Amino acid sequence: MSTTVSPEFTRNLPKAELHVHIEGTLTPSLRFKLAQRNHIDTGYSTIDEMKKMYNYNSLSSFLKVYYAAMNVLQTEQDFYDLAMDYLHRAVKNNVRHVEIFFDPQAHTSRGISFSTVINGLYRATVDARALNIDAQLIMCFLRDFSRDSAQSTLEEALNYKDKIIGVGLDSDEHNNPPMKFYNQFTEASAQGFHLTAHADPDQKDSIEHIQQLLEIICVDRIDHGTNIVEDPDLVELAAKRKIGLTSCPLSNTFLNADMKGTEVIELLNKGVKISIHSDDPAYFGGYIADNYYAIANKYHLTKEQIVTLACNSFETSWISNEQKAIYLREVQDYVQNFNN
Ligand code: ADE
Ligand code: ZN
Repeated sequence: MSTTVSPEFTRNLPKAELHVHIEGTLTPSLRFKLAQRNHIDTGYSTIDEMKKMYNYNSLSSFLKVYYAAMNVLQTEQDFYDLAMDYLHRAVKNNVRHVEIFFDPQAHTSRGISFSTVINGLYRATVDARALNIDAQLIMCFLRDFSRDSAQSTLEEALNYKDKIIGVGLDSDEHNNPPMKFYNQFTEASAQGFHLTAHADPDQKDSIEHIQQLLEIICVDRIDHGTNIVEDPDLVELAAKRKIGLTSCPLSNTFLNADMKGTEVIELLNKGVKISIHSDDPAYFGGYIADNYYAIANKYHLTKEQIVTLACNSFETSWISNEQKAIYLREVQDYVQNFNN
């Protein structure tokens, strides 16, 4: 059986990107350039030599490479350049709206101030309006850091409330359940931030973590979260509450040796608002359109299923109902006018 959608269809389809870590968009070439600009010795003399170290087959082995690469990010301009580089690529993927994760603790813990990070990233989101893309920022707590560290990060973020749309949770999930940050999520919600959190595929206690997120913390979205298929009651709850699940096929292929397409199809069939994203595109071999095409191709998704995934991305984004209607219309017009 052959696929029913082309790479061109997935590339030009209007979409929202809701699961992309800005630090995961740091390409080897930008890393190399920033290292030279900031006089930092990466330990590699060529980009190809650097790329050879990009070996990982689990969340923890990936995170080691990912955090080590960040030391080239030093100045506000570096964060601006990082975000602008990604936003240009997102535009080429016809991303119309993006909610970008950033990890302040990965930078404050090595002496870079919160203001340096947020001011550089935010300035890029403003300038990117000239590219006709709407970009927002989601601040993530690193779950393998302490509660106290999350609390002080949240307190700093309150000084930048107008620049941050929501709060997320990422990094190493092993023995770091969502409930560790119950107080910080509760306070963030009371302060008006939207809530999301990672439930990476096939982690120890995956279902327990998903249950905490849905029944106690009451997040709006779950990042990955495909293990929910193991619990039909939770699937029903997620569908009823229109919780967004953000799946990342290429990242799953690297870190879990399984794209999780069977789970995506099951969740689509059960009416869960699941959608497709890129996670850390500089590390997992593709941007968002590549992720759409990879899953479409491998699992023979129909055009209707692909379009539903794109509609779900807008429907579960943190924009107004009026904006959602405009983007959904754009998707419908695209489908009607696409000949192939
Ligand atoms: N940080 C960056 N990418 C991540 C992922 N896939 N899971 C958890 N934390 C992350
Ligand atoms: Zn992620």
